[in-house]
Amino acid sequence: MSAIAKVSGNGIASAPRSGLGLSRSVGLVGLRGHVVEVEAHLAQGLPGFAIVGLPDAALSESRDRVRAAIASTGLALPHRRITVNLAPASLPKRGSGFDLAIAVALLAAARIVRPQECAKFVMLGELGLDGRVHPVRGVLPAVAAAVAQGHRRIVVAAQNAREAALVPDAEVHPVASLGDAAVLLGADPGDVVSSDSPVITADQAVPRADVGDLSDVVGQHQARYALEIAAAGGHHMLMVGPPGAGKTMLAKRLPTILPDLTDEQAVEVTAIHSLAGSLDPSLGLIRRPPFEAPHHTATAAAIVGGGSGLPRPGAVSLAHCGTLFLDESPEFKSSVLQTLRQPIEAGELVIHRSGGVARYPARFQLVMAANPCPCGMDEQRCQCTSLVQRRYFSRLSGPLLDRVDLHCQLRGIRLGDMSGEQMESSASVALRVSAARSAAAKRLQDTPWTLNSQVPGPWLRQNWSIRDAVLEPVQQAISRGHISMRAADRILRVAWTVADLAGRAAPDRSDVSAALALRAGGPAQ
Ligand SMILES: Nc1ncnc2c1ncn2[C@@H]1O[C@H](COP(=O)(O)OP(=O)(O)OP(=O)(O)O)[C@@H](O)[C@H]1O
Ligand SMILES: [Mg+2]
Ligand SMILES: [Zn+2]
Repeated sequence: MSAIAKVSGNGIASAPRSGLGLSRSVGLVGLRGHVVEVEAHLAQGLPGFAIVGLPDAALSESRDRVRAAIASTGLALPHRRITVNLAPASLPKRGSGFDLAIAVALLAAARIVRPQECAKFVMLGELGLDGRVHPVRGVLPAVAAAVAQGHRRIVVAAQNAREAALVPDAEVHPVASLGDAAVLLGADPGDVVSSDSPVITADQAVPRADVGDLSDVVGQHQARYALEIAAAGGHHMLMVGPPGAGKTMLAKRLPTILPDLTDEQAVEVTAIHSLAGSLDPSLGLIRRPPFEAPHHTATAAAIVGGGSGLPRPGAVSLAHCGTLFLDESPEFKSSVLQTLRQPIEAGELVIHRSGGVARYPARFQLVMAANPCPCGMDEQRCQCTSLVQRRYFSRLSGPLLDRVDLHCQLRGIRLGDMSGEQMESSASVALRVSAARSAAAKRLQDTPWTLNSQVPGPWLRQNWSIRDAVLEPVQQAISRGHISMRAADRILRVAWTVADLAGRAAPDRSDVSAALALRAGGPAQ
Protein backbone atom coordinates (compact mmCIF):
# COMPACT_ATOMS: atom_id res chain seq x y z
CA MET A 1 0.00 0.00 0.00
CA SER A 2 1.32 3.40 -0.85
CA ALA A 3 2.25 5.81 1.89
CA ILE A 4 -0.44 8.24 0.79
CA ALA A 5 -3.06 6.23 -1.04
CA LYS A 6 -5.38 7.82 -3.47
CA VAL A 7 -8.93 7.31 -2.33
CA SER A 8 -10.04 6.15 -5.76
CA GLY A 9 -6.67 5.43 -7.09
CA ASN A 10 -5.44 4.45 -10.45
CA GLY A 11 -2.12 5.22 -11.88
CA ILE A 12 0.01 6.50 -9.00
CA ALA A 13 3.10 4.44 -8.59
CA SER A 14 3.49 2.93 -5.18
CA ALA A 15 5.11 5.46 -2.90
CA PRO A 16 8.03 4.44 -0.72
CA ARG A 17 7.29 2.91 2.65
CA SER A 18 9.05 5.75 4.31
CA GLY A 19 9.95 9.05 2.76
CA LEU A 20 11.11 12.54 3.29
CA GLY A 21 9.62 15.66 1.77
CA LEU A 22 10.92 19.19 2.01
CA SER A 23 9.20 22.51 1.38
CA ARG A 24 9.67 26.07 2.58
CA SER A 25 7.65 28.80 4.15
CA VAL A 26 8.40 32.03 6.01
CA GLY A 27 8.12 32.79 9.72
CA LEU A 28 7.62 36.41 10.76
CA VAL A 29 8.98 37.94 13.93
CA GLY A 30 7.68 41.48 13.96
CA LEU A 31 8.27 42.71 10.44
CA ARG A 32 11.30 40.48 9.89
CA GLY A 33 10.83 37.27 7.96
CA HIS A 34 12.94 34.11 8.11
CA VAL A 35 12.75 31.24 5.65
CA VAL A 36 11.59 28.12 7.47
CA GLU A 37 12.29 24.65 6.14
CA VAL A 38 9.41 22.24 6.51
CA GLU A 39 10.44 18.57 6.54
CA ALA A 40 7.83 15.83 6.50
CA HIS A 41 8.88 12.36 7.43
CA LEU A 42 6.81 9.21 6.99
CA ALA A 43 7.91 6.27 9.10
CA GLN A 44 6.62 2.86 9.96
CA GLY A 45 5.10 2.55 13.36
CA LEU A 46 1.89 3.54 15.04
CA PRO A 47 -0.01 6.03 12.89
CA GLY A 48 0.20 9.55 14.24
CA PHE A 49 0.93 13.12 13.25
CA ALA A 50 3.33 15.29 15.19
CA ILE A 51 4.57 18.80 14.43
CA VAL A 52 7.84 19.72 16.10
CA GLY A 53 9.95 22.87 16.04
CA LEU A 54 8.34 25.46 18.31
CA PRO A 55 4.83 25.72 16.83
CA ASP A 56 2.18 27.87 18.55
CA ALA A 57 -1.40 26.74 19.18
CA ALA A 58 -2.72 27.82 15.77
CA LEU A 59 0.05 25.87 14.10
CA SER A 60 -0.72 22.75 16.11
CA GLU A 61 -4.23 22.91 14.73
CA SER A 62 -2.61 22.77 11.33
CA ARG A 63 -2.64 18.98 11.63
CA ASP A 64 -6.42 18.84 11.45
CA ARG A 65 -6.63 21.31 8.58
CA VAL A 66 -3.91 19.53 6.60
CA ARG A 67 -5.50 16.13 7.18
CA ALA A 68 -8.93 17.34 6.02
CA ALA A 69 -7.59 19.33 3.06
CA ILE A 70 -5.64 16.35 1.76
CA ALA A 71 -8.78 14.21 1.98
CA SER A 72 -10.86 16.88 0.21
CA THR A 73 -8.27 16.95 -2.56
CA GLY A 74 -9.00 13.30 -3.24
CA LEU A 75 -6.03 11.91 -1.35
CA ALA A 76 -5.67 10.26 2.03
CA LEU A 77 -3.06 10.44 4.73
CA PRO A 78 -1.10 7.24 5.15
CA HIS A 79 -1.33 4.94 8.10
CA ARG A 80 2.21 5.88 8.98
CA ARG A 81 3.87 7.81 11.69
CA ILE A 82 4.11 11.39 10.38
CA THR A 83 6.57 13.84 11.79
CA VAL A 84 6.74 17.37 10.50
CA ASN A 85 9.76 19.38 11.57
CA LEU A 86 10.00 23.13 11.22
CA ALA A 87 13.57 24.39 11.14
CA PRO A 88 15.30 26.37 12.55
CA ALA A 89 13.68 25.18 15.77
CA SER A 90 14.86 28.24 17.66
CA LEU A 91 12.56 30.54 15.67
CA PRO A 92 9.02 30.81 17.07
CA LYS A 93 6.41 29.89 14.42
CA ARG A 94 3.08 31.60 14.60
CA GLY A 95 -0.24 31.38 12.86
CA SER A 96 -1.74 29.29 10.12
CA GLY A 97 0.39 30.35 7.15
CA PHE A 98 2.48 27.16 7.29
CA ASP A 99 -0.46 24.86 6.37
CA LEU A 100 0.26 24.79 2.66
CA ALA A 101 3.98 24.11 3.12
CA ILE A 102 3.23 21.28 5.55
CA ALA A 103 0.70 19.69 3.20
CA VAL A 104 2.95 19.76 0.15
CA ALA A 105 5.92 18.48 2.17
CA LEU A 106 3.72 15.51 3.06
CA LEU A 107 2.70 15.02 -0.57
CA ALA A 108 6.38 15.13 -1.50
CA ALA A 109 7.26 12.59 1.17
CA ALA A 110 4.62 10.32 -0.36
CA ARG A 111 5.94 11.07 -3.88
CA ILE A 112 2.56 12.34 -5.03
CA VAL A 113 4.29 15.55 -6.02
CA ARG A 114 7.88 15.76 -7.20
CA PRO A 115 10.18 16.44 -4.26
CA GLN A 116 12.69 18.31 -6.40
CA GLU A 117 9.92 20.66 -7.66
CA CYS A 118 8.61 21.15 -4.17
CA ALA A 119 11.99 22.31 -2.92
CA LYS A 120 12.02 25.13 -5.49
CA PHE A 121 9.10 27.06 -3.99
CA VAL A 122 8.24 28.98 -0.87
CA MET A 123 4.64 28.34 0.21
CA LEU A 124 2.47 30.83 2.07
CA GLY A 125 -1.13 29.93 2.79
CA GLU A 126 -3.69 28.58 5.19
CA LEU A 127 -5.74 25.55 4.24
CA GLY A 128 -9.49 25.25 4.55
CA LEU A 129 -10.97 21.87 5.43
CA ASP A 130 -12.28 21.73 1.84
CA GLY A 131 -8.77 22.04 0.41
CA ARG A 132 -9.02 25.69 -0.52
CA VAL A 133 -5.99 27.91 0.07
CA HIS A 134 -6.87 30.98 2.16
CA PRO A 135 -4.93 34.25 2.19
CA VAL A 136 -2.77 35.10 5.19
CA ARG A 137 -1.62 38.35 6.80
CA GLY A 138 1.90 39.62 6.27
CA VAL A 139 2.45 38.27 2.76
CA LEU A 140 4.41 41.35 1.68
CA PRO A 141 7.12 41.16 4.39
CA ALA A 142 7.19 37.35 4.05
CA VAL A 143 7.75 37.44 0.29
CA ALA A 144 10.30 40.24 0.64
CA ALA A 145 12.25 38.10 3.13
CA ALA A 146 12.07 35.00 0.92
CA VAL A 147 13.34 36.90 -2.12
CA ALA A 148 16.08 38.54 -0.07
CA GLN A 149 17.16 35.08 1.10
CA GLY A 150 17.38 33.78 -2.46
CA HIS A 151 13.95 32.18 -2.92
CA ARG A 152 12.17 33.94 -5.77
CA ARG A 153 9.42 31.45 -6.50
CA ILE A 154 6.48 31.92 -4.23
CA VAL A 155 3.16 30.08 -4.04
CA VAL A 156 0.36 32.07 -2.41
CA ALA A 157 -3.42 32.09 -2.20
CA ALA A 158 -4.96 33.76 -5.24
CA GLN A 159 -6.23 36.60 -3.02
CA ASN A 160 -2.66 37.31 -1.87
CA ALA A 161 -1.13 37.28 -5.36
CA ARG A 162 -1.32 41.00 -6.03
CA GLU A 163 0.27 41.78 -2.71
CA ALA A 164 3.07 39.27 -3.26
CA ALA A 165 3.68 40.73 -6.72
CA LEU A 166 4.47 44.11 -5.14
CA VAL A 167 7.89 42.67 -4.20
CA PRO A 168 10.37 43.26 -7.02
CA ASP A 169 11.87 40.05 -8.44
CA ALA A 170 9.24 37.79 -6.89
CA GLU A 171 7.84 35.10 -9.22
CA VAL A 172 4.33 34.64 -7.88
CA HIS A 173 2.28 31.49 -8.43
CA PRO A 174 -1.28 31.95 -7.20
CA VAL A 175 -3.24 28.85 -6.23
CA ALA A 176 -6.86 28.51 -5.22
CA SER A 177 -6.60 25.04 -3.71
CA LEU A 178 -4.17 22.43 -2.45
CA GLY A 179 -4.99 20.53 -5.67
CA ASP A 180 -3.69 23.47 -7.74
CA ALA A 181 -0.49 23.48 -5.71
CA ALA A 182 -0.09 19.72 -6.19
CA VAL A 183 -0.49 20.05 -9.96
CA LEU A 184 2.04 22.88 -10.03
CA LEU A 185 4.47 20.58 -8.25
CA GLY A 186 4.06 17.72 -10.70
CA ALA A 187 1.01 15.77 -9.52
CA ASP A 188 -1.09 14.25 -12.26
CA PRO A 189 -4.06 16.63 -12.80
CA GLY A 190 -6.33 13.62 -13.21
CA ASP A 191 -5.55 12.44 -9.71
CA VAL A 192 -6.48 15.48 -7.68
CA VAL A 193 -9.42 17.79 -7.22
CA SER A 194 -8.20 21.17 -8.40
CA SER A 195 -9.70 24.37 -9.68
CA ASP A 196 -8.83 26.85 -12.39
CA SER A 197 -6.60 29.26 -10.56
CA PRO A 198 -6.45 32.68 -12.13
CA VAL A 199 -3.10 34.07 -13.13
CA ILE A 200 -2.78 37.42 -11.44
CA THR A 201 -0.50 40.16 -12.57
CA ALA A 202 0.25 43.29 -10.64
CA ASP A 203 -1.97 46.16 -11.66
CA GLN A 204 -1.01 49.75 -12.15
CA ALA A 205 -1.46 51.70 -8.96
CA VAL A 206 -4.69 53.66 -8.95
CA PRO A 207 -5.11 56.88 -6.99
CA ARG A 208 -6.40 56.58 -3.47
CA ALA A 209 -9.67 58.04 -2.26
CA ASP A 210 -9.77 61.80 -2.34
CA VAL A 211 -8.92 63.22 1.09
CA GLY A 212 -9.73 66.82 0.26
CA ASP A 213 -7.54 69.86 -0.17
CA LEU A 214 -6.43 72.66 2.12
CA SER A 215 -8.22 75.13 -0.13
CA ASP A 216 -11.49 73.69 1.28
CA VAL A 217 -10.69 75.20 4.69
CA VAL A 218 -11.96 78.76 4.96
CA GLY A 219 -10.35 81.27 7.33
CA GLN A 220 -8.47 79.77 10.30
CA HIS A 221 -5.24 81.38 9.10
CA GLN A 222 -3.34 80.67 12.27
CA ALA A 223 -4.39 77.01 12.37
CA ARG A 224 -3.50 76.58 8.70
CA TYR A 225 -0.10 78.07 9.43
CA ALA A 226 0.32 75.77 12.45
CA LEU A 227 -0.50 72.80 10.24
CA GLU A 228 2.14 73.91 7.74
CA ILE A 229 4.70 74.19 10.55
CA ALA A 230 3.68 70.77 11.85
CA ALA A 231 4.24 69.29 8.38
CA ALA A 232 7.57 71.05 7.85
CA GLY A 233 9.11 70.18 11.22
CA GLY A 234 7.28 66.93 11.98
CA HIS A 235 5.95 68.52 15.17
CA HIS A 236 3.14 66.92 17.13
CA MET A 237 0.15 69.23 17.32
CA LEU A 238 -2.87 69.94 19.47
CA MET A 239 -5.83 71.93 18.16
CA VAL A 240 -8.33 73.33 20.62
CA GLY A 241 -11.49 75.01 19.41
CA PRO A 242 -15.27 75.04 19.47
CA PRO A 243 -17.34 72.51 17.50
CA GLY A 244 -17.50 73.09 13.78
CA ALA A 245 -14.37 75.26 13.63
CA GLY A 246 -12.70 72.88 11.19
CA LYS A 247 -10.32 70.93 13.45
CA THR A 248 -11.15 67.57 11.92
CA MET A 249 -11.10 69.06 8.44
CA LEU A 250 -7.62 70.50 8.96
CA ALA A 251 -6.16 67.34 10.53
CA LYS A 252 -7.39 65.19 7.65
CA ARG A 253 -5.56 67.47 5.24
CA LEU A 254 -2.14 67.14 6.90
CA PRO A 255 -1.16 64.22 4.61
CA THR A 256 -1.91 66.39 1.57
CA ILE A 257 0.99 68.71 2.38
CA LEU A 258 3.50 66.00 3.37
CA PRO A 259 6.04 64.67 0.85
CA ASP A 260 5.79 61.17 -0.68
CA LEU A 261 7.35 58.34 1.28
CA THR A 262 10.84 57.24 0.27
CA ASP A 263 11.09 53.80 -1.39
CA GLU A 264 12.35 52.30 1.85
CA GLN A 265 9.50 53.85 3.85
CA ALA A 266 6.95 52.72 1.25
CA VAL A 267 8.00 49.08 1.59
CA GLU A 268 8.03 49.27 5.39
CA VAL A 269 4.64 50.98 5.63
CA THR A 270 3.07 48.57 3.11
CA ALA A 271 4.50 45.62 5.07
CA ILE A 272 2.87 46.85 8.29
CA HIS A 273 -0.50 47.23 6.58
CA SER A 274 -0.06 43.77 5.09
CA LEU A 275 0.50 42.32 8.56
CA ALA A 276 -2.58 44.10 9.83
CA GLY A 277 -4.62 42.60 7.00
CA SER A 278 -5.75 46.08 5.93
CA LEU A 279 -3.84 46.37 2.68
CA ASP A 280 -5.57 46.86 -0.62
CA PRO A 281 -2.88 45.51 -2.94
CA SER A 282 -4.67 46.71 -6.06
CA LEU A 283 -3.48 50.18 -5.05
CA GLY A 284 0.17 49.15 -5.19
CA LEU A 285 2.80 50.06 -2.60
CA ILE A 286 1.65 52.69 -0.11
CA ARG A 287 3.55 55.77 -1.25
CA ARG A 288 1.63 58.50 0.57
CA PRO A 289 1.91 59.09 4.32
CA PRO A 290 -0.83 57.09 6.06
CA PHE A 291 -3.52 58.73 8.21
CA GLU A 292 -4.96 56.77 11.10
CA ALA A 293 -7.82 58.10 13.18
CA PRO A 294 -8.84 55.62 15.89
CA HIS A 295 -12.13 56.40 17.63
CA HIS A 296 -11.99 57.58 21.25
CA THR A 297 -13.60 54.33 22.36
CA ALA A 298 -10.64 52.37 20.95
CA THR A 299 -8.98 49.92 23.34
CA ALA A 300 -5.29 50.01 24.22
CA ALA A 301 -4.85 46.84 22.13
CA ALA A 302 -6.33 48.54 19.07
CA ILE A 303 -3.94 51.45 19.53
CA VAL A 304 -0.70 49.56 20.17
CA GLY A 305 -1.50 46.19 18.64
CA GLY A 306 -1.29 42.62 19.92
CA GLY A 307 -3.52 39.58 19.87
CA SER A 308 -2.70 35.88 19.76
CA GLY A 309 -0.67 34.22 17.05
CA LEU A 310 1.04 36.69 14.78
CA PRO A 311 0.58 39.99 16.69
CA ARG A 312 -1.50 42.49 14.76
CA PRO A 313 0.01 45.98 14.44
CA GLY A 314 -2.10 48.69 16.12
CA ALA A 315 -3.00 52.20 15.03
CA VAL A 316 0.38 53.59 16.13
CA SER A 317 2.16 51.26 13.68
CA LEU A 318 -0.39 51.72 10.90
CA ALA A 319 0.37 55.44 11.25
CA HIS A 320 4.13 54.84 10.83
CA CYS A 321 5.62 57.57 8.58
CA GLY A 322 2.28 59.34 8.68
CA THR A 323 -0.27 60.86 11.02
CA LEU A 324 -2.02 59.48 14.10
CA PHE A 325 -5.07 61.65 14.65
CA LEU A 326 -6.89 61.58 17.97
CA ASP A 327 -10.11 63.48 17.45
CA GLU A 328 -11.94 64.50 20.65
CA SER A 329 -8.71 63.54 22.40
CA PRO A 330 -9.74 64.22 26.04
CA GLU A 331 -12.43 61.58 25.55
CA PHE A 332 -9.83 58.82 25.18
CA LYS A 333 -9.26 56.73 28.30
CA SER A 334 -6.17 57.94 30.11
CA SER A 335 -4.81 54.37 30.14
CA VAL A 336 -5.03 54.39 26.35
CA LEU A 337 -3.31 57.77 26.10
CA GLN A 338 -0.53 56.48 28.38
CA THR A 339 0.25 53.68 25.94
CA LEU A 340 1.27 56.31 23.39
CA ARG A 341 4.29 57.35 25.42
CA GLN A 342 6.50 54.40 24.53
CA PRO A 343 6.07 54.65 20.74
CA ILE A 344 6.38 58.45 20.85
CA GLU A 345 9.69 58.15 22.67
CA ALA A 346 11.11 55.09 20.95
CA GLY A 347 9.56 55.31 17.48
CA GLU A 348 8.66 51.65 17.67
CA LEU A 349 6.42 49.31 19.54
CA VAL A 350 7.85 46.29 21.29
CA ILE A 351 5.41 43.44 21.86
CA HIS A 352 6.73 40.88 24.35
CA ARG A 353 5.86 37.27 23.73
CA SER A 354 6.85 33.95 25.26
CA GLY A 355 8.94 33.15 22.20
CA GLY A 356 10.68 36.53 22.08
CA VAL A 357 9.84 40.08 21.17
CA ALA A 358 8.20 41.46 18.05
CA ARG A 359 9.09 45.00 17.05
CA TYR A 360 6.83 47.09 14.89
CA PRO A 361 7.96 50.52 13.75
CA ALA A 362 5.72 53.33 15.03
CA ARG A 363 7.22 56.71 14.16
CA PHE A 364 4.16 58.85 13.60
CA GLN A 365 3.15 62.45 13.84
CA LEU A 366 0.53 62.94 16.54
CA VAL A 367 -2.31 65.36 15.91
CA MET A 368 -4.89 65.83 18.65
CA ALA A 369 -8.12 67.81 18.54
CA ALA A 370 -10.18 68.92 21.49
CA ASN A 371 -13.11 71.12 22.38
CA PRO A 372 -12.26 73.75 25.00
CA CYS A 373 -14.55 72.04 27.50
CA PRO A 374 -16.75 68.97 27.96
CA CYS A 375 -20.07 70.75 27.25
CA GLY A 376 -19.15 71.01 23.57
CA MET A 377 -20.86 74.39 23.17
CA ASP A 378 -19.41 77.51 21.65
CA GLU A 379 -17.78 80.30 23.69
CA GLN A 380 -20.98 82.35 24.02
CA ARG A 381 -23.17 79.61 25.41
CA CYS A 382 -20.57 77.68 27.45
CA GLN A 383 -20.98 78.14 31.18
CA CYS A 384 -18.26 75.74 32.33
CA THR A 385 -15.92 76.93 35.07
CA SER A 386 -12.20 76.98 34.44
CA LEU A 387 -11.87 74.14 36.96
CA VAL A 388 -14.17 71.96 34.86
CA GLN A 389 -12.22 72.87 31.74
CA ARG A 390 -8.87 72.08 33.37
CA ARG A 391 -10.12 68.76 34.64
CA TYR A 392 -11.31 67.93 31.12
CA PHE A 393 -7.80 68.45 29.78
CA SER A 394 -6.04 66.70 32.64
CA ARG A 395 -6.37 63.38 30.79
CA LEU A 396 -3.99 64.68 28.20
CA SER A 397 -1.47 64.63 31.06
CA GLY A 398 1.86 66.40 31.18
CA PRO A 399 4.11 63.65 29.80
CA LEU A 400 2.05 63.39 26.62
CA LEU A 401 1.57 67.14 26.11
CA ASP A 402 5.28 67.63 26.81
CA ARG A 403 5.95 66.00 23.48
CA VAL A 404 3.49 68.20 21.60
CA ASP A 405 5.37 71.21 20.25
CA LEU A 406 2.39 73.04 18.75
CA HIS A 407 -0.68 74.07 20.72
CA CYS A 408 -3.07 75.90 18.51
CA GLN A 409 -6.29 77.66 19.42
CA LEU A 410 -9.06 77.93 16.83
CA ARG A 411 -11.98 80.27 17.14
CA GLY A 412 -15.43 79.59 15.78
CA ILE A 413 -15.97 80.31 12.14
CA ARG A 414 -17.76 83.65 11.53
CA LEU A 415 -19.98 84.77 8.72
CA GLY A 416 -17.29 87.12 7.40
CA ASP A 417 -14.90 84.16 6.98
CA MET A 418 -17.12 82.76 4.26
CA SER A 419 -16.64 85.83 2.06
CA GLY A 420 -15.31 83.80 -0.83
CA GLU A 421 -11.62 84.43 -0.26
CA GLN A 422 -9.57 82.03 -2.38
CA MET A 423 -7.64 79.80 0.05
CA GLU A 424 -4.21 78.42 -0.81
CA SER A 425 -4.15 74.87 -2.16
CA SER A 426 -2.38 71.88 -0.61
CA ALA A 427 -0.03 71.64 -3.60
CA SER A 428 1.28 75.13 -3.07
CA VAL A 429 1.73 74.70 0.71
CA ALA A 430 3.45 71.35 0.06
CA LEU A 431 6.15 73.13 -1.95
CA ARG A 432 7.12 75.30 1.04
CA VAL A 433 6.97 72.30 3.36
CA SER A 434 9.29 70.36 1.11
CA ALA A 435 11.80 73.22 0.86
CA ALA A 436 11.77 73.70 4.64
CA ARG A 437 12.31 69.99 5.21
CA SER A 438 15.31 70.03 2.87
CA ALA A 439 16.83 72.97 4.73
CA ALA A 440 16.43 71.23 8.08
CA ALA A 441 17.77 67.94 6.75
CA LYS A 442 20.83 69.73 5.39
CA ARG A 443 21.52 71.44 8.71
CA LEU A 444 21.03 68.09 10.52
CA GLN A 445 23.04 66.01 8.09
CA ASP A 446 25.70 64.93 10.58
CA THR A 447 23.15 63.95 13.21
CA PRO A 448 20.74 61.02 13.58
CA TRP A 449 17.79 63.38 12.97
CA THR A 450 16.19 64.85 9.86
CA LEU A 451 13.34 66.95 11.30
CA ASN A 452 13.44 69.79 13.85
CA SER A 453 10.89 68.01 16.06
CA GLN A 454 13.35 65.14 16.58
CA VAL A 455 16.14 67.29 18.03
CA PRO A 456 16.43 67.04 21.84
CA GLY A 457 16.30 70.34 23.75
CA PRO A 458 19.79 70.33 25.30
CA TRP A 459 21.43 69.51 21.97
CA LEU A 460 19.44 72.26 20.33
CA ARG A 461 20.54 74.85 22.89
CA GLN A 462 24.21 73.85 22.73
CA ASN A 463 24.63 73.46 19.02
CA TRP A 464 22.41 76.02 17.38
CA SER A 465 23.04 79.18 19.21
CA ILE A 466 20.61 82.03 18.81
CA ARG A 467 21.51 85.55 19.87
CA ASP A 468 20.13 86.63 23.24
CA ALA A 469 18.26 89.53 21.74
CA VAL A 470 16.33 87.14 19.50
CA LEU A 471 15.45 84.93 22.45
CA GLU A 472 14.23 87.80 24.57
CA PRO A 473 10.50 87.07 24.19
CA VAL A 474 11.07 83.52 25.46
CA GLN A 475 13.25 84.65 28.34
CA GLN A 476 10.64 87.15 29.39
CA ALA A 477 7.96 84.50 29.34
CA ILE A 478 10.13 82.22 31.48
CA SER A 479 10.93 84.93 34.00
CA ARG A 480 7.26 85.83 34.33
CA GLY A 481 6.54 82.18 35.03
CA HIS A 482 4.34 81.83 31.94
CA ILE A 483 6.32 78.93 30.51
CA SER A 484 8.69 76.24 31.77
CA MET A 485 12.16 75.44 30.52
CA ARG A 486 10.76 72.43 28.73
CA ALA A 487 8.21 74.59 26.98
CA ALA A 488 11.07 76.90 26.00
CA ASP A 489 12.75 74.00 24.18
CA ARG A 490 9.57 73.30 22.28
CA ILE A 491 9.32 76.94 21.29
CA LEU A 492 12.90 76.90 20.04
CA ARG A 493 12.29 73.82 17.91
CA VAL A 494 9.23 75.43 16.37
CA ALA A 495 11.14 78.71 15.83
CA TRP A 496 13.67 76.83 13.72
CA THR A 497 10.88 75.38 11.59
CA VAL A 498 9.32 78.83 11.21
CA ALA A 499 12.72 80.09 10.01
CA ASP A 500 13.12 77.14 7.63
CA LEU A 501 9.71 77.90 6.11
CA ALA A 502 10.67 81.54 5.70
CA GLY A 503 13.98 80.59 4.07
CA ARG A 504 16.08 82.13 6.87
CA ALA A 505 19.37 80.55 7.98
CA ALA A 506 18.43 81.00 11.64
CA PRO A 507 15.38 82.19 13.57
CA ASP A 508 14.99 85.92 14.10
CA ARG A 509 12.95 87.64 16.75
CA SER A 510 9.73 87.43 14.74
CA ASP A 511 10.16 83.66 14.27
CA VAL A 512 10.59 83.23 18.00
CA SER A 513 7.50 85.34 18.66
CA ALA A 514 5.49 83.33 16.13
CA ALA A 515 6.55 80.11 17.86
CA LEU A 516 5.67 81.56 21.25
CA ALA A 517 2.20 82.47 20.00
CA LEU A 518 1.65 78.87 18.94
CA ARG A 519 2.18 77.78 22.54
CA ALA A 520 0.04 80.36 24.19
CA GLY A 521 -3.18 78.86 22.90
CA GLY A 522 -2.96 75.49 24.62
CA PRO A 523 -4.58 74.38 27.84
CA ALA A 524 -2.99 75.52 31.08
CA GLN A 525 -0.16 73.26 32.28
N1 LIG B 1 -12.86 76.57 8.37
C1 LIG B 1 -13.82 75.94 7.67
N2 LIG B 1 -13.90 76.07 6.34
C2 LIG B 1 -14.85 75.44 5.65
N3 LIG B 1 -15.78 74.65 6.19
C3 LIG B 1 -15.75 74.46 7.51
C4 LIG B 1 -14.77 75.09 8.31
N4 LIG B 1 -14.98 74.74 9.59
C5 LIG B 1 -16.03 73.91 9.57
N5 LIG B 1 -16.50 73.72 8.33
C6 LIG B 1 -17.65 72.89 7.96
O1 LIG B 1 -18.15 72.32 9.15
C7 LIG B 1 -18.04 70.91 9.13
C8 LIG B 1 -17.48 70.44 10.47
O2 LIG B 1 -16.12 70.77 10.54
P1 LIG B 1 -15.13 69.91 11.42
O3 LIG B 1 -15.68 68.55 11.62
O4 LIG B 1 -13.80 69.99 10.85
O5 LIG B 1 -15.21 70.72 12.78
P2 LIG B 1 -14.55 70.36 14.15
O6 LIG B 1 -13.81 71.55 14.60
O7 LIG B 1 -13.79 69.11 14.03
O8 LIG B 1 -15.82 70.18 15.05
P3 LIG B 1 -16.09 69.15 16.26
O9 LIG B 1 -15.47 69.76 17.47
O10 LIG B 1 -17.59 69.14 16.34
O11 LIG B 1 -15.50 67.86 15.88
C9 LIG B 1 -17.13 70.59 7.98
O12 LIG B 1 -17.49 69.39 7.36
C10 LIG B 1 -17.30 71.77 7.05
O13 LIG B 1 -18.36 71.53 6.19
MG1 LIG C 1 -14.17 67.21 14.72
ZN1 LIG D 1 -18.36 74.47 28.39
